[in-house]
Amino acid sequence: MSFSPLTSACSSLGVKSSSLIVQLGFHTAENNKFPGAFVSSPKRTKTKKFSIACSSTDPLLVKAARGDPVSRPPTWMMRQAGRYMAVYRKLAEKHPSFRERSETTDLIVEISLQPWEAFRPDGVIIFSDILTPLPAFGVPFDIEEVRGPVIQSPIRFEDDLKALHPIDLEKLHFVGESLKILRREVGGHAAVLGFVGAPWTIATYIVEGGTTRTYTTIKSMCHTAPNLLRTLLSHLTKAISEYIIYQVESGAHCIQIFDSWGGQLPPDMWEQWSKPYITEIVSVVRNKCPKTPLVLYINGNGGLLERMKGTGVDVIGLDWTVDMADARKRLGSDISVQGNVDPAYLFSPLSAVTKEIQRVIKCAGPRGHILNLGHGVLVGTPEEAVAHFFDVSKSLNHDGSSQNHSMEESKLLV
Ligand code: CP3
Repeated sequence: MSFSPLTSACSSLGVKSSSLIVQLGFHTAENNKFPGAFVSSPKRTKTKKFSIACSSTDPLLVKAARGDPVSRPPTWMMRQAGRYMAVYRKLAEKHPSFRERSETTDLIVEISLQPWEAFRPDGVIIFSDILTPLPAFGVPFDIEEVRGPVIQSPIRFEDDLKALHPIDLEKLHFVGESLKILRREVGGHAAVLGFVGAPWTIATYIVEGGTTRTYTTIKSMCHTAPNLLRTLLSHLTKAISEYIIYQVESGAHCIQIFDSWGGQLPPDMWEQWSKPYITEIVSVVRNKCPKTPLVLYINGNGGLLERMKGTGVDVIGLDWTVDMADARKRLGSDISVQGNVDPAYLFSPLSAVTKEIQRVIKCAGPRGHILNLGHGVLVGTPEEAVAHFFDVSKSLNHDGSSQNHSMEESKLLV
């Protein structure tokens, strides 16, 4: 497979809107408020060299995911394509079926590019869903307007497992095609993001038959049918690993693993029912795609941060209930973080949005931070607030200067 040459992220970062430039005043190694975030670790010093980072053609987001020096934190939003955008709502009127919108190459590309065209984020996530691959391994589903995801035949008994088969990636050709086109369309100016659901989170839908508030069926299955649940999770682990590799080979620069409902488990249960399967995925994917950063997001992850790090991912996605400075202290310097502005801020005055972005960036420190919301953009979010979020984030500099990128990067070295 050949891709058009990617523009250097270094050269694409020059001009900033001067009215928005803000000196963040980060702490140096000597004056370090958040020691964990700045001290270089053996892992980092071994693999990361300034000259390599600066001449690299990787998009800014990939560099930040790896902990390489960057002049500003790259920024994108979860659910940045969707119902809050008028242009999406108009398209959805014409194509009312979610499955049609997310399984037709032209529509996937068009929707994924809507936020790219409007806001120029540093990451362009493919318009898809964590449930999209299910029919390719034997689990049909639908997304209903009010109920959300619906699995017609949930898996709850040994016999139900017979429906499962190895993932048939040909059935997901639209994902591969779209990633390939997106990679060409954004031309190296942003990272193309692929994503999957983690086995536990996917299993909550397959077992419960759809969205749940209580997770009682699957949680009781941990005790009443542990072998059945383990078989299902192992099947999902294999299918999801193959699906990630397919996404990377099709053009994804970086993969988000959403264990959105992992935070519904008590931490010791997460250790048993989610972590080993994610760890296995990370190890299989690393083996095949060693350069692709993996990001793990869990909704409500305050009790899981250190445990998440144990999976071996490159980046921990933080929801907004964890303070960024606390997360940095707890996670140490050898892992990157993503997040974590409360999505509700986008309903507040724009000045409050600006302040919160500055606060989060300052707490995160100059390395290994991808700016994002703590969860997805909420329905009803004003588009102007999203535009403002991106304008402000892209105007910020780690050292306050604007033009000379290599100077900026060298000042960041600690
Ligand atoms: O939100 C998360 O926690 C991220 C993980 C996740 C996704 N889908 C990723 C996604 C989860 C848990 C889902 C399941 C799902 N799918 C739900 C949530 C239901 C519940 O249990 O609470 C819903 C409503 C869907 C259906 C769906 N997926 C719709 C209607 C849309 C369109 C966008 C919107 O929200 O209006 C999606 C798209 C989607 N799901 C994306 C992602 C990463 C799109 C890519 C993006 O722009 O981020």
